Order: sequence, then structure tokens, then C-alpha cells
Amino acid sequence: MQIQVKVNGADYTHEVEPRLLLVHFLRDVLHLTGTHIGCDTSICGACTILVNGKSTKSCTMFAVQADGCELTTVEGLSQNGELHPLQEGFKEMHGLQCGFCTPGILMNMVNFLEHHPNPSEEEIRHALKGNLCRCTGYQNIVKSVQYAATKMLKNEEVPA
Ligand code: FES
Ligand code: FES
Repeated sequence: MQIQVKVNGADYTHEVEPRLLLVHFLRDVLHLTGTHIGCDTSICGACTILVNGKSTKSCTMFAVQADGCELTTVEGLSQNGELHPLQEGFKEMHGLQCGFCTPGILMNMVNFLEHHPNPSEEEIRHALKGNLCRCTGYQNIVKSVQYAATKMLKNEEVPA
């Protein structure tokens, strides 16, 4: 089947097998390998991307289901060479160790902060439940998200 998708602002048209998972389409066809595969069974969250702005585990969808959709992967987060505040937060607050879970967490948190611009620690921890990290103990991940939330709120303040 032929599908058309917009990924990180660029249009793609490809012939795909109906059984191809979206995560494999991104990694193997488009070579966007920032989206990781940890389990292939919708548990770990490493494959999380935005589908029409909503965080989605890309191992849970077939590529054909994304036909006509707008997708954002971790490769699309930084703009004009500037890190997204979440990426900056993870860097500044040591939110990663091996980094395998990081792309999925970033994409989930992008969507979360859009709806919870000033989240409590409890809300952040709740939102992270679908993303498994084997290295960090989550402490610095939470701090990284808090860093980003503070920065994004400041950026939105109207200058006096
Ligand atoms: S690879 Fe998709 S949730 Fe683990
Ligand atoms: S930083 Fe290694 S799995 Fe999360």
C-alpha cells in the first residue's frame, strides 16, 4: 500500500507492506533511528513519537495507519540548531545515563508539558509511567522535566 506522511516537516510517499510497524518504517525506511525499539509490545515507551501532536508508541501502530498523518520524532525536536528546553533539561540535570529510553521520554514529555505547563512532581511521575528506564532511578528525569517546564513558562512570559 502507498502511504503519505509528513515527518518532522518533510513529506514522504512510500510503498509499504500492510504488516510493517510504524517504528520499523521510521527506522528502516526513513532511517530515523532516534526512535528506539525496546520491547515491540507497547510496554517500554522507547518508541514514542508524536502522531498529529499526540504522544504515541510507534510499535503500537502499523505504518499504513499513519497514512495522512503528521509525525514528529526526536530528530525533529531541536529547531535552528537550538535544543528543545526538554533536551536542554536532560543535559543540564543529568537526566540520562545510557540514553536508550531518552527519545521516547522526550517525546512523551513534549506532549505532557503542552497540556500541563506547570506540573507537580506527582503529575510528572504519573505521566512517566509508560516509559521504562533501566538506568537512572527517574530522579534526574523528573528534575529535567521540571527544568524544561520552568524554562518554557519563562519563555512564554510577555516582556514588560
Ligand atoms: S518498543 Fe514500543 S513500547 Fe517498547
Ligand atoms: S538512561 Fe538508560 S534506560 Fe534510561
